Amino acid sequence: MVYVKTEKQIQAMRECGKILRDTLLKAQEFIKPGVTTKEIDKFCHRYIVSRGGKPSCLGYMGYPAATCISVNEVVVHGIPDDTVIEDGDIVSVDIVVFYKGVHTDAARTFCVGNVSPEKRKLVKVTEESFFEGIKHIKAGSRVGDIGSVVQKYAESFGFGVVRDLQGHGVGCEIHEDPGIPNFGKAGTGEFLKEGMTIAVEPMITMGTFEVSVAEDGWTVFTDDGQPSAHYENTLLITKDGVEILTL
Ligand code: MF3
Ligand code: CO
Repeated sequence: MVYVKTEKQIQAMRECGKILRDTLLKAQEFIKPGVTTKEIDKFCHRYIVSRGGKPSCLGYMGYPAATCISVNEVVVHGIPDDTVIEDGDIVSVDIVVFYKGVHTDAARTFCVGNVSPEKRKLVKVTEESFFEGIKHIKAGSRVGDIGSVVQKYAESFGFGVVRDLQGHGVGCEIHEDPGIPNFGKAGTGEFLKEGMTIAVEPMITMGTFEVSVAEDGWTVFTDDGQPSAHYENTLLITKDGVEILTL
């Protein structure tokens, strides 16, 4: 189901998005070698609640934590546990916040300590692919206009673009239509309308784009064990562009 948001819902999403943005900024300060992913989760959970929000993921389809924390070769949906963050890790933190009846969704990948130049490059290109992908998007654009640019950009550096997961509409629910793939052809797919809110989230790998899901039913990892990065924001489609709600 595609939901076009009312002005009231959009205003709530702006506020919700600020809570989420601030949570990710706080998480960035908190993450150091020696902390566990569970401690990061607890820290983010407390912060969201202190701002009057709720972590949407907790209990969503049985998901057991407030956040998704994905280290190195884990692409997305890593379940916080006793894993200890080490110097040189890249750590993706993906959070959905619920506030005033709406959800926003965003993720960052943080470099911890002495990260290799190749991994740093992966993180940077992943972030850049997001901004390239949305650069020319506005009401009347099509879903394929985003993915085609993300794919071209990431692949031009020799990186892989994960196909099995995609961005999505977000706001009234965590996952709404349309799906927003990070690959494809410009000028194809659903049209984006003014007032739609979508999460655009490139998941880029250093090697193969092939991924699998672990036995826990959640953790998505690269088949070749190479690192992967994730960058995501929720955005509002406007008449002449987009407004990023989680930045
Ligand atoms: N941002 C993630 C996604 O879009 C998190 C969803 S909540 C979870 O898939 F419960 F599925 F983790
Ligand atoms: Co998402």
